[in-house]
Amino acid sequence: MGGATIYDLAREAGLSPSTVSRALRGDPAVSLATVRRVQELAASRGYRPNAVARSLAVRASNLLAVVLPDIANPFFPLLVREVQTRARAAGYIVVLCNTADDPETELQTLEMLARQQVEGVIAIGLTGIGYDLPPFLATPMKFVSLDRSSDRVPWAVVQADHFAGAQMAVNHLISLGHRHIACITGPPRILSAEDRTRGYRQALAASGIVPDERLIRQGDFSEESGYRAAADLLTHMASFTAIFAANDLMALGAMSALQARGVSIPGDASVVGFDDIYLGRFASPSLTTVHQPLEDLARTAVDQLVASIRGHRIAESPVTLPVSLITRESTGPAPLNQIVGNRARRRTSAEHDRQHQT
Ligand code: RIB
Repeated sequence: MGGATIYDLAREAGLSPSTVSRALRGDPAVSLATVRRVQELAASRGYRPNAVARSLAVRASNLLAVVLPDIANPFFPLLVREVQTRARAAGYIVVLCNTADDPETELQTLEMLARQQVEGVIAIGLTGIGYDLPPFLATPMKFVSLDRSSDRVPWAVVQADHFAGAQMAVNHLISLGHRHIACITGPPRILSAEDRTRGYRQALAASGIVPDERLIRQGDFSEESGYRAAADLLTHMASFTAIFAANDLMALGAMSALQARGVSIPGDASVVGFDDIYLGRFASPSLTTVHQPLEDLARTAVDQLVASIRGHRIAESPVTLPVSLITRESTGPAPLNQIVGNRARRRTSAEHDRQHQT
């Protein structure tokens, strides 16, 4: 049997339910003696506030949600932690919803959040493909898109400067003498990935290098896709001395494929990623990458969302935050004879490949 309700306390204390409710909140309009008597009675009868009843009563659930595509990617947990810290400081708790980039899961998640009277949603990568997003604008829920946005998403966006970050990565390689630079892109339809591919192409063009389509492979932000892309570049004897990968997991996968075939990094080939996840710091060699300002991204997104919930003005969208290049051991001068593709030994590590051909 659950603890006493407000009505049980009121009956036993000889007070109205609203007086008991005010006494439990320590309302100064209630005498101190009554506050103390009611709070002691509540504790002794195991009274616990009914959160749903409270949210119905005050029409505020103090709930926010973060909807994201892949909690297993080390980039996201730290971002979510920053979101929760900022949200808690504003009086909200955050529920985490993983969608695996599946539109059906996205739709079900949004419908459940609306039913639970979540006040705001931080959307990371909602595609809006296969279902309509605008009807959710008719619910009381407010939305901010963080990090990944889609051209189908009608609400404010807070993001890192994906385009400039890719330019920094490629310009760093060019400054080391590389001119044959491969690119492992993120998945299509994700604007952050498309911005990075655009930044790669623009940086090459700005240095008078014509992008070579034979050096571009499509990944899906997973380590396995990075491994497969680099292995494919080598198998097809593509002529490259460096790889820019659109995120760190793919860069780590690419390094693994190169090293499995006897390519030394950075002696024979350099590799740059994007995100600055902790795995890159402990890789061998440590990974050069583009740092995303997670704390600033999270703080800005939560502040925008809370302002929207409270009916305050929000900043012009998109809010684009600066990134920075973190140079480590995986990048070095271009090899004198330039091309690694036709130099890599054909030693294929069967075990290593099997692990990655999932
Ligand atoms: O690694 C996952 C990628 O998806 C990151 O680059 C981040 O920007 C997210 O959108």
